Amino acid sequence: MVARLKAGASILDLGCCFGQDLRHMAADGAPTEKMYSSDIIPEFWDISYDLYRDAGHMKARFIPADVLDPASPLVELQGKLDILLANQVFHLFDWERQVEAGKNMVALSRLGTWLVGYQIGSSVGRAVPVRTTTGGEAGGAGSKTKFFHTPETWREMWRQVQRETGTEWEVESSLRPLKEWGLEDEDSAWMGPAARGFEFIVRRVDDYDLNGKD
Ligand SMILES: C[S@@+](CC[C@H](N)C(=O)[O-])C[C@H]1O[C@@H](n2cnc3c(N)ncnc32)[C@H](O)[C@@H]1O
Repeated sequence: MVARLKAGASILDLGCCFGQDLRHMAADGAPTEKMYSSDIIPEFWDISYDLYRDAGHMKARFIPADVLDPASPLVELQGKLDILLANQVFHLFDWERQVEAGKNMVALSRLGTWLVGYQIGSSVGRAVPVRTTTGGEAGGAGSKTKFFHTPETWREMWRQVQRETGTEWEVESSLRPLKEWGLEDEDSAWMGPAARGFEFIVRRVDDYDLNGKD
């Protein structure tokens, strides 16, 4: 991602919270002029400048938006983004809402766009009941369950997103033990023994003009 950003690519961090991943890429040398960030809770981004003390040089533009809303302010970026980052976002929602989020992300993409992210997955694809919500899970309101994917269920969901958007994507994903992410057993016990780390990259391979703007 950093290499693409150095070559002039644009990126949007969806559900960015404090924007730590964009900051990480900036620290690795990525320019921030073509960075965008978005979250349903704008206060996280406001606070992030205090946390990172980078108001002078973090140029990413924050756009408050609900990733489930197809008419959100993100429509101005439709068809303009090379990288979409969605870290720990899909797993907030049930299957239907993940499909809606995926379709809204597809609308932001163009030929060659990567959708990259990680989230909680499962060794057996399954819906788990939503726990008491915290601020970070506020956007999951309305979902009674969260769907934790295996690579197979993720591929199946993307087949649905592709069918419903008329686009084509290459889908790659993998599971990892949560310990490899640094989680201790006590951190992940509530998710059950099937919980895994889930990492994905989905690359758009068609050049169909979804938004009539190319
Ligand atoms: C678990 S945090 C992940 C934050 C960050 N991406 C990371 O990996 O640390 C989920 C983030 O998604 C945001 N969020 C929840 N529902 C959302 C929605 N419907 N639209 C946009 N953002 C949402 C939350 O406010 C929160 O910042």
